[in-house]
Amino acid sequence: MLQGVEMSKRDPDRPDFEPTPVHTPVLASAVVEHLAGPEPERERGWIVDLTLGAGGHAARLLEAMPSARLLGTDQDPEVLEHARRRLLPFGQRARVRRARMSSLEDVLHAEGIDRVAAILIDLGVSSLQLDSAARGFSFQEDGPLDMRMDPDRERTAADVVNRWDESDLADLFYYEGGETRARKIARAIVASRRRAPFLRTLALADLIENTVGQRGRTHPATKVFQALRRAVNQEAEELDAALELADRWLVDRGRLGVISFHSGEDGAVKRFIARGAEQGRWRPLTRRPLRADRDEVRSNPRARSASLRVAERLRLERDVGRTRP
Ligand SMILES: C[S@@+](CC[C@H](N)C(=O)[O-])C[C@H]1O[C@@H](n2cnc3c(N)ncnc32)[C@H](O)[C@@H]1O
Repeated sequence: MLQGVEMSKRDPDRPDFEPTPVHTPVLASAVVEHLAGPEPERERGWIVDLTLGAGGHAARLLEAMPSARLLGTDQDPEVLEHARRRLLPFGQRARVRRARMSSLEDVLHAEGIDRVAAILIDLGVSSLQLDSAARGFSFQEDGPLDMRMDPDRERTAADVVNRWDESDLADLFYYEGGETRARKIARAIVASRRRAPFLRTLALADLIENTVGQRGRTHPATKVFQALRRAVNQEAEELDAALELADRWLVDRGRLGVISFHSGEDGAVKRFIARGAEQGRWRPLTRRPLRADRDEVRSNPRARSASLRVAERLRLERDVGRTRP
């Protein structure tokens, strides 16, 4: 979900002389270890990164697999510009395209890719999105209540907050955010929006804080903001589509790695792999999700809640119905 940001040294040659944000991809060594060779197909085949972000994982994978090529996609055009620059040194080996996970199949066809050796899905929001107040993901800085990763989506967080009825809001905060005070917060939102709609992130964050108070070190709006982001970007549906895609497109012994930051997401991935394993189509390579060690969390606190699951697709003769279209 959240990627660490370091500020690179200022480059005085740049006309705007601004620091460039650099991502620290989470669990990057484990991703490389599990997705890279030694299978020849994985060494020389196509890797697809469905959540390219700033291209941190993609660069690490391309470095580790000098004969592989990578297709990196993301739904956010702003973020993709960072990836494009980051992957320039890899020349023709890296292709960067804009797509939602649920429409990736069209991109694979358009690119003439028919065999995929490894797929990486690093879920959630990138720092580039979170740290830009104008995108509306943050409750720390004021911005429009937006939260769309793909700016072409119609529904914003403000639409959800101002239009959903109280019980739907409460369910969303509870099921998608794990917020136990969901009903109280939903009631307060509905009472407040009768006077004026919510348009800014801080107005919503302040209302939540005033309604439930501060408990512990996490901001009281954290879970509601996560739930809103998941609804606006239809994250559960997108993940289901991405897992189905992996099932259809991965070659025999092709590998899938999924990094999640939310117990609901991790549960969905776990169930998907378990179901596939029962049918003999998937082999889990991580019985328990891999977590960042203390050193990584120290240098990148945003890695704290990351879990990585990896599984291998096994293609069987009776599996013909589930191959790519
Ligand atoms: C955690 S960041 C990925 C960071 C990346 N692995 C890196 O090393 O820089 C998640 C990215 O996935 C993208 N994303 C999330 N859901 C998506 C979806 N359904 N389709 C396409 N991109 C998506 C977001 O726009 C964001 O840039």
